[in-house]
Amino acid sequence: MKTRITEMFGIEHPIIQGGMHYVGFAEMAAAVSNAGGLGIITGLTQGTPEKLANEIARCKDMTDKPFGVNLTFLPTVNAPDYPGLVKAIIDGGVKAVETAGNNPAQVLPYFKDAGVKVIHKCTSVRHSLKAQSIGCDAVSVDGFECGGHPGEDDIPNMILLPRAADELDIPFVASGGMADARSLVASLAMGAEGMNMGTRFIATQEAPVHENVKKAIVAASELDTRLVMRPLRNTERVMTNDAVERLLEKERKLGDDLKFEDIIEEVAGVYPRIMTEGDMDAGAWSCGMVAGLISDIPTCKELIDGIMAEAEEIIRGRLAGFLN
Ligand SMILES: Cc1cc2nc3c(=O)[nH]c(=O)nc-3n(C[C@H](O)[C@H](O)[C@H](O)COP(=O)(O)O)c2cc1C
Repeated sequence: MKTRITEMFGIEHPIIQGGMHYVGFAEMAAAVSNAGGLGIITGLTQGTPEKLANEIARCKDMTDKPFGVNLTFLPTVNAPDYPGLVKAIIDGGVKAVETAGNNPAQVLPYFKDAGVKVIHKCTSVRHSLKAQSIGCDAVSVDGFECGGHPGEDDIPNMILLPRAADELDIPFVASGGMADARSLVASLAMGAEGMNMGTRFIATQEAPVHENVKKAIVAASELDTRLVMRPLRNTERVMTNDAVERLLEKERKLGDDLKFEDIIEEVAGVYPRIMTEGDMDAGAWSCGMVAGLISDIPTCKELIDGIMAEAEEIIRGRLAGFLN
């Protein structure tokens, strides 16, 4: 399958693995890239330019296919060394960057000069248009279904994707709720040129996370995610657990008075305990509604090959069949 996204990133299949905190290590990115998709290392999980440079080098030892790095711009007090991280990406020879969070305008000139393609993850049409106007090469349109931060507009992909198609000139991939060949074909029908998956890639053999995380995703239904931190306008879709229910109770009690400090125990620094140690009640961790569509733990190659083969069957068989 050839789309503007496969052409832009030099990949075989139009499937991207979104950056994921404490999941997007070199092992994850290399497995996706070796399977013909675009694997992504999560820059902020490494934190420093030195560690990121090392992770990029490790990934290059595991694959000779293109892979990317995610740079998430968060409003934090102790901002990471973004210029240093940008330099590590460029010096490491990486040719694809997924940006997310705040406007990436400040880093675009460096990437443009180095021939790095930038795909910005957006949760609305207006942010997608902004990304296009500042010179991003592509966008990843992240619907309300998504694991992680869906924004505050709550527009699901059935509406968001065709709206993006109506407005954008640059290519985009569908993100949020994507799991299988049906997701890919539906996304293409709505104007996307590929898809981005987060949660689905965690439940794979190669994902470098504790088995408990993979089992939790397989066991969960589409009803098992919750939206937290809405009162802080920093909404995150997470898998429910004891800590999340405790956090939601605090939100109900404190209402508009809620401050980040009130929920620090449930959200700060919990990722290593969950992803590495498998302590599934340690706090809130991002997970998409798509968990309801995930019932196995394949290799990345089995997953991607299966999606591409079935997508062809759907297009040539089921869809073409309706035209008689
Ligand atoms: C555990 C987890 C951690 C994530 N961490 C990040 C992150 O650090 N930066 C980012 O841009 N997106 C992050 N995301 C969002 C994903 O890149 C992707 O946009 C999202 O998972 C798509 O929705 P899906 O889970 O329904 O596939 C994370 C998602 C998950 C599930």
